Amino acid sequence: MSHNQFEQKSQAWSALFSEPMSDLVKRYTASVFFDKRLWQADIAGSLAHAEMLQAQAIISSADLAGIQQGLAQISGEIEAGAFEWELDLEDVHLNIEARLTQLVGDAGKRLHTGRSRNDQVATDVRLWLRAEIDLIVELLLALQKSLVDTAEQHIDVILPGFTHLQVAQPVSFGHHLLAYVEMFARDAERLGDVRRRTNRLPLGAAALAGTSYPLDRERVARTLGMVDEQGRACVCQNSLDAVSDRDFAIEFSAAASICMVHISRFSEELILWMSQNFGFIRIADRFTTGSSIMPQKKNPDVPELARGKTGRVVGHLMGLLTLMKGQPLAYNKDNQEDKEPLFDTVDTLKDTLRIFSEMVGGQINPATGRKEGGISVNREAMEQAALRGYATATDLADYLVKKGLPFRDAHETVAHAVKAAIAHGVDLSELPLAVLQGFNASIEKDVYPCLSLRGSLDARNILGGTAPAQVRAQIARHRMRLG
Ligand code: ARG
Repeated sequence: MSHNQFEQKSQAWSALFSEPMSDLVKRYTASVFFDKRLWQADIAGSLAHAEMLQAQAIISSADLAGIQQGLAQISGEIEAGAFEWELDLEDVHLNIEARLTQLVGDAGKRLHTGRSRNDQVATDVRLWLRAEIDLIVELLLALQKSLVDTAEQHIDVILPGFTHLQVAQPVSFGHHLLAYVEMFARDAERLGDVRRRTNRLPLGAAALAGTSYPLDRERVARTLGMVDEQGRACVCQNSLDAVSDRDFAIEFSAAASICMVHISRFSEELILWMSQNFGFIRIADRFTTGSSIMPQKKNPDVPELARGKTGRVVGHLMGLLTLMKGQPLAYNKDNQEDKEPLFDTVDTLKDTLRIFSEMVGGQINPATGRKEGGISVNREAMEQAALRGYATATDLADYLVKKGLPFRDAHETVAHAVKAAIAHGVDLSELPLAVLQGFNASIEKDVYPCLSLRGSLDARNILGGTAPAQVRAQIARHRMRLG
């Protein structure tokens, strides 16, 4: 073992311990092989802490300079893959501190003044998660843009809207895609809320009760960018709470789960639309796979996996909630178990969002500078499907209401008309005027435009409705918002 001042560690923690840890217990308690991922946050936190210690005259300028130089070297070593992570040193914090002391001696040993790994790890996870939230919000913006682009190309494409997966009313495919834009916009907004509560500083809470050194916690918060919209330092206000609660991680997992649930709903639709029975869309071959036995198959693996991975992310949320449940104040080692679910949630969500942006909107072709290879739509198949299932029956009822019938009577009249159309195997728009007039004498020739798919869409010219004019207005709003 190279990190000399911790050489005792492989034997026992301190003079207090009479026997060394067994290898099994070492492996069981160590977290370095997953929490080394926090190294950048750990170093940023240490630098901010050390700089404040010096400003408060708790350590000397020479010590600060040593710490800064040592941590810079360690960053370089980790980036170059030259840093030796040691299981014996348990976690990312002890590994870095040991190396620092090896490099700069006593200055390294002074870094931990007024600090505990309890407030250190809580700070690291918050800093790390804050950066990841920012990346995820960017990815959500990119996905929304892909959806808006695709929606804009398909404002006038009509597909059957379903309720209960039964044909209900015709809708614009653009309108349908914009429903998901709304969901992903809320997901981004939710993550913004989570970010605000994540971006608060635990350091200074020390092990659990605060510290006797005159630390300037607000200064550390400002150095680390833990400030609110008004630029005020955000510092956890109770030391017991600061080191022990992981509600920010749970909240993040909840927001990630909701986002994945949205993704899984979209995935389910893509899978249905791609099946031969719908034949509405195709996605690029690179998002599909073949079958080892059935040569004709092209399976929608990416949407299916996204649907499946939603279970995993929701599972992590349950894991974190259960991890926190019943923990007494303050820090308990249980909390070390927060990292793997959190890391996996972030990785899964980021990959999924990246893949979906590309699958929906395509990729820039460097030769043409244009996006290619997104969802391709079979307009005829969609419209044919919308023409089956009497999707404009509500429009006939609305027509009769305009002629003075109470809505309930109109509803009943149209039910008779639909029954007759089914019996003749035709659409409502294919019933001759005389037949329609048999159901209600006020029906005139001007009923036919109302019974067309396009007429049905145009009629829903209300804020949030599917009329192409409304869809265009929504696209303009999203473009302003998304930049
Ligand atoms: N690796 C630990 C964690 O992830 C760091 C904090 C350890 N604190 C302690 N008192 N053992 O939570």
